[in-house]
Amino acid sequence: MDLLEYQARDLFERFGVPVLPGRIASSVDEALEAYESVGGGTVVVKAQVRVGGRGKAGCVKLAKSAAEVAEVAGGILGLDIHGHIVDTVMLSPAAAIAEEFYFSILLDRAANGYLAMCSLEGGMDIEQLAEERPEALAQVSVGDGIDAAKAKEILTEAGFPEADHERIGLVLEKLWTAFKESDATLVEVNPLVRTESGYILALDGKVTLDANAEFRHSGWAKYHETSGSVDLERQAKELDLNYVKLDGNVGVIGNGAGLVMSTLDVVAAAGLELPGHPKPANFLDIGGGASATVMANGLRIIMSDPQVESIFVNVFGGITACNEVADGIVRALDILGDEAKLPIVVRLDGNSVEVGKAILAEANHPLITVKSTMDEAARTAAKLASEGN
Ligand SMILES: Nc1ncnc2c1ncn2[C@@H]1O[C@H](COP(=O)(O)OP(=O)(O)OP(=O)(O)O)[C@@H](O)[C@H]1O
Ligand SMILES: [Mg+2]
Repeated sequence: MDLLEYQARDLFERFGVPVLPGRIASSVDEALEAYESVGGGTVVVKAQVRVGGRGKAGCVKLAKSAAEVAEVAGGILGLDIHGHIVDTVMLSPAAAIAEEFYFSILLDRAANGYLAMCSLEGGMDIEQLAEERPEALAQVSVGDGIDAAKAKEILTEAGFPEADHERIGLVLEKLWTAFKESDATLVEVNPLVRTESGYILALDGKVTLDANAEFRHSGWAKYHETSGSVDLERQAKELDLNYVKLDGNVGVIGNGAGLVMSTLDVVAAAGLELPGHPKPANFLDIGGGASATVMANGLRIIMSDPQVESIFVNVFGGITACNEVADGIVRALDILGDEAKLPIVVRLDGNSVEVGKAILAEANHPLITVKSTMDEAARTAAKLASEGN
């Protein structure tokens, strides 16, 4: 679960990480109120979207007066940044920056631990730095956390002068506490700055929380988006569906995790040969007893993903026979009525496959295409997505 910058700012503040005041706004009028409440003067107006590279996309801008705030906020609100529409901006006082550093902590699954990354050269292009001059980005594994000694080790490795170790080290320790206490998998500060008067400030924060830890944090409800992947996954969870959002355009439903995993592979392979390279949009395992309600819930979740262009239902009848699944699909489409708009390619095999196919043939639903093999069905679904169905 990715937080927006202002949410990361608030979280940092709770753990004593030094941040600037920040006020959010969703309209020009609110931006003007926010301008007053941060005390006027020179401010930065920043788009609040879950994509990187906002600065380069012209979505981090200075404004020196109420008139400029109105102009800048009006310009940023409503912008489309790589498919994310800006509906909120944050205003902060402009800092007099002397130096920009980089610092992050992430879960390092491979090492069964955590990794801290730190550089004297922060700012906007850390990915480029990592690629071109990896030696400028210190990577230090963090076992039990970041205390004063660990912070010193990280800062030394990154080349910070001794005189900085204590002051910046304290900020790293607080960021570790924020990371640990919040069940985060990523905390990134870019830039961490030194101001001209010598203060250390986290000017931009990126935080990813581990959604599996949500039960431990009653306050997380506020982080759920009103749209997008996070919300779909949450809705699916409430419906007891085993759903993971991916970023392609072919919706996938199957019974059994193994079958769904191989369906993803087959769809991705079929997509490689087609224009636009359609890819799977999700993982959804509807499990054994695929009732009409479960099927309808699954279809509804997939159809609410705006990226999806076609759906592939791949079922192997076992204890739940194909006729029950076919019946489930037909009744699910009844339940959904006009909500169902996307083409659905169905492949059934296994127990009672012929009866299942007969049910689908008889229903003769305009959205359903039946294919006999998994490859054929994957190609058809991918082709429909490639054509924008
Ligand atoms: N409050 C501020 N005062 C002065 N300059 C700022 C302030 N906030 C950001 N900046 C400047 O703007 C640059 C980009 O800001 P920021 O890091 O927030 O966005 P970004 O890195 O482009 O976005 P993203 O993190 O999404 O890639 C910073 O590196 C910094 O130089
Ligand atoms: Mg940044």
